[in-house]
Amino acid sequence: MIDCILDFDPGVDDAAALFVMKNAKNLNLLALSSVSGNVSIENTTRNMQCLANLLDIDVPMGKGQPRPLIRQPYFASAHGDDGIAGFRKMIESENVRDLDSENSVEMMHEIIKNSSNKITIIAVGPLTNIALLLRAFPQDKEKIEQISIMGGSITYGNMTSLSEFNFFVDPEAAKIVFESGIKLIMAGLNVTQLATLTETQMNSLNEVDNKKAKFAYNIIKYYVSNDTGIHDPCAVMALECPEIFEMEDMYIDIDTQSQETRGMSYRNIRREKDGEFNCKVITKIDLDKFGEKLLDSLTK
Ligand code: RIB
Ligand code: CA
Repeated sequence: MIDCILDFDPGVDDAAALFVMKNAKNLNLLALSSVSGNVSIENTTRNMQCLANLLDIDVPMGKGQPRPLIRQPYFASAHGDDGIAGFRKMIESENVRDLDSENSVEMMHEIIKNSSNKITIIAVGPLTNIALLLRAFPQDKEKIEQISIMGGSITYGNMTSLSEFNFFVDPEAAKIVFESGIKLIMAGLNVTQLATLTETQMNSLNEVDNKKAKFAYNIIKYYVSNDTGIHDPCAVMALECPEIFEMEDMYIDIDTQSQETRGMSYRNIRREKDGEFNCKVITKIDLDKFGEKLLDSLTK
């Protein structure tokens, strides 16, 4: 089993990633951490709490950073005003558990420090919390097994022609993580933009008569009409079922300029020629297996 912490900005595809986490056979979820990203930290945090309740996930939950390290927050409209396509009211409940920490960076540090195993982090929002964790508690690096990231791209972007949302929002945080020396897996837009459910799979999901499946159908139906890729489950599946992907060792640099290249992730071929690599980049995905695994997780 891989001991994991999920840091996310729910977010519709973040919610889908949590469904996959819940049903993963090889992953042991230790905690949830929210970050400002798709919507405000207040919204991503409340969504985290409501989603955990919906999926009967009983792990520590921490509220993360309200804004990027340096820049202003930048929200994504594809997820609706509340971050889950306007369907939070469907999963609000008096059973929703309170937060265990108002500072998820400190919460993650305590978990990592006290764990007898190395911890894997799955990060599918801007990398603000993770960068702060590494800066505030550098001693934790040796207790972090790897970080599986949804972010970046080695082809096109979705915020500018060259940069992807998570890295665009907080380029400085992404740069800190990619220069940390920790083992990284990068699920970038070059594969995640293609990851989705077919119409047949959506119809199958719609036929399942339980609250979880109905919620999942409603939010994904809204989301895919705005943004084709169900991106975030890829970072979870990269650990749960790596056989559905192909990965390649690369050296990825992050651009922190503030124009068209803001947050761009690009290959540093010179470093690779010197035998330097800082992450495994997913280059191929078996889309059929992705869809089957996601549908199975949403209908369990
Ligand atoms: O670019 C896609 C990423 O940005 C996904 O993590 C999505 O949830 C948004 O955060
Ligand atoms: Ca996300």
